[in-house]
Amino acid sequence: MKIDVLTLFPDMFSLFNESIIGRAKEKGLFELNTVNIRDYSTNKHHRVDDYPYGGGSGLVMTVQPIMDAVSQVKKNNSGKVIFLGPKGKAFNQKKAMELSKEENLIFICGHYEGIDERVYQVIDEEISLGDFILTGGEMAAIPIIDSILRLKSGVLGDDESSQEESFSEDLLEYPHYTRPEDFRGEIVPEILLSGHHENIRQWRRFMMLKITKERRPDLFANHKFSKDDEKIWKKFKRKL
Ligand SMILES: C[S@@+](CC[C@H](N)C(=O)[O-])C[C@H]1O[C@@H](n2cnc3c(N)ncnc32)[C@H](O)[C@@H]1O
Repeated sequence: MKIDVLTLFPDMFSLFNESIIGRAKEKGLFELNTVNIRDYSTNKHHRVDDYPYGGGSGLVMTVQPIMDAVSQVKKNNSGKVIFLGPKGKAFNQKKAMELSKEENLIFICGHYEGIDERVYQVIDEEISLGDFILTGGEMAAIPIIDSILRLKSGVLGDDESSQEESFSEDLLEYPHYTRPEDFRGEIVPEILLSGHHENIRQWRRFMMLKITKERRPDLFANHKFSKDDEKIWKKFKRKL
């Protein structure tokens, strides 16, 4: 996968040199390039922002540097152009899965009051991180790119871990425990120590259903119970 990010603050993306994603990058499992929009400004002072027509507070990112940066990047990246902005559809795990299947992606990060409206001519999609305002698109691009990359084969080392976790099928994940078995009287559920794989699977599935029902009734209402779910739900509810 190749990702190009158009930004005024390329250094912010050095985060991707760290930890799990940093190791995956070193292994060549993906390519992440940052493109400094300022480098494309034809203004003699390399200005990339200006006052808004019609007045009002703040500065707007000018159209020329972004358009020229996009044209240049498109020569080597055929991916869709995504603008990170609060007017887009809210990002979620389903969208992360969809985008993880793409070979190429281009992200544009806005700043200040946002971008000149004419940049939308080259934008295929706007994605929002949520219903709140960030200082810049970088703040949204970083978690979004992270969630996409960790779904790529080989990045996590164990592909199953991304398939079983929260939201992978509109359910929240089951609880995890590790050593010690007894922490100041708080005991690990006995079933996890039993070594009985089928019972453990069923308990984990029940906990996914239970936790989702309690904490995210909106997700739970849309969950389609399989025959297995129904059996597990009845069996463990009785034991509560
Ligand atoms: C301060 S914000 C501009 C907000 C804009 N004036 C408005 O009210 O919609 C600067 C930049 O941050 C990014 N941004 C802000 N909130 C975002 C969000 N919820 N999701 C994705 N990007 C966001 C966008 O790229 C935006 O152009």
